[in-house]
Amino acid sequence: MSRGTVIKTGSKVRQFKVGDAVYSRPRDHRIGTFAEFIAVNEADVALKPKNLNTTEAASIPLVGLTAWQALVEVGKVMPGQKVFIQAGSGGVGTIAVQLAKHLGATVATTTSAKNAELVKSLGADVVIDYNAQNFEKILSGYDLVLISQNSETLEKSLGVLKPGGQLISISGPPDPAFAEAFGLNFFLKLVMRLLSRGVRREAKALNVHYSFLFMRAQGQQLGELTSLIESGVIRPIVDEVFPFEKTGDALAYIETGRARGKVVITVTD
Ligand SMILES: NC(=O)c1ccc[n+]([C@@H]2O[C@H](COP(=O)([O-])OP(=O)(O)OC[C@H]3O[C@@H](n4cnc5c(N)ncnc54)[C@H](OP(=O)(O)O)[C@@H]3O)[C@@H](O)[C@H]2O)c1
Repeated sequence: MSRGTVIKTGSKVRQFKVGDAVYSRPRDHRIGTFAEFIAVNEADVALKPKNLNTTEAASIPLVGLTAWQALVEVGKVMPGQKVFIQAGSGGVGTIAVQLAKHLGATVATTTSAKNAELVKSLGADVVIDYNAQNFEKILSGYDLVLISQNSETLEKSLGVLKPGGQLISISGPPDPAFAEAFGLNFFLKLVMRLLSRGVRREAKALNVHYSFLFMRAQGQQLGELTSLIESGVIRPIVDEVFPFEKTGDALAYIETGRARGKVVITVTD
C-alpha cells in the first residue's frame, strides 16, 4: 500500500474507499501526522490532486485551507479588490498569493529580495522587499490584509486598508469571536478580549475590521483546492524534504523563518 492511501474505512464512511489516494489536515485534537498511519474523520479528507505526488500533496492541506478560509470564507475577495499578503514566500503566502490572484485581486506581498522572482511567478503584482522598503509607505487603499507576522507589522497594516477593509491575522492576537467559536470558558474569553482590545480599538477608529483566523479542518474546501490544483491554478511550493528520522531537523529549519513554501517530512513504505 503506498503512502497517502486509505487502508481501512469505518462502517459509515461513504465518500472514500480502500486504495483511494487522499490528503487531509486532520481536525483539532486529532492532529498527529508525524506518523505512518492516522485515523481521520471522512469530513476532513479530500481526494489528492492527480497531478501531485505524495510529497507535494502533503504540503497543501494546512496552508491551502488557511488561505481558502482567509480569502474565500472570511475575506470574500471579489475581482478587482486589492489584497496584501504578507510573507508571500512562506507556506501560507505561496498559496494565498496564487488564490488571491485567481479570485481576481490585485496582489501585493512582502519578501526578501532573494524570493522576489518566486512571488512574482506566483502572480504577485506588487513585490516589496521588507529589508529595503516599508510596505506601509507604499501601499494604501487595500481591501484586505492577511497578516502572518508580529504585532509591529499588525499596527502598520491598519493604515494600508481603505475604510471598510479587513485585517485578517493568522498570527494573533486572538479575538472574542475566536474564543466563542472554540467554546472557551469565561476566563479565556476575557483573556482573548483583552489581548486583542488594542488592535480592535484602532481598527474601529479607522473603520476597518479586525479578525483572527485559526484554520480548521474542512474536506469539502480541500476538494475545491484539489480542483484548482488539477486545473493548474495553484501549484505547491515545496522547499526542503526531510526523512521521518530527521523530523527534529525539519522543525529546526522551519524555526529559522526562512522556508520557501513548505517543508515536508516523508515516511517510506
Ligand atoms: N492561524 C492559523 O490557522 C495558521 C495557519 C498556518 C500558519 N499560521 C502561522 O502563520 C505564520 C506563517 O506561517 P508560514 O508557515 O506561512 O510561515 P513560514 O513558511 O515559516 O514563513 C517563512 C517565510 O516568511 C518570510 N519572511 C520572514 N520574515 C518576513 C518579514 N518580516 N516580512 C515578510 N516575509 C517574511 C521568509 O522569506 P525570506 O526568507 O525572504 O525572509 C520565508 O519565506 C506562522 O506564525 C504560523 O504559525 C497560522
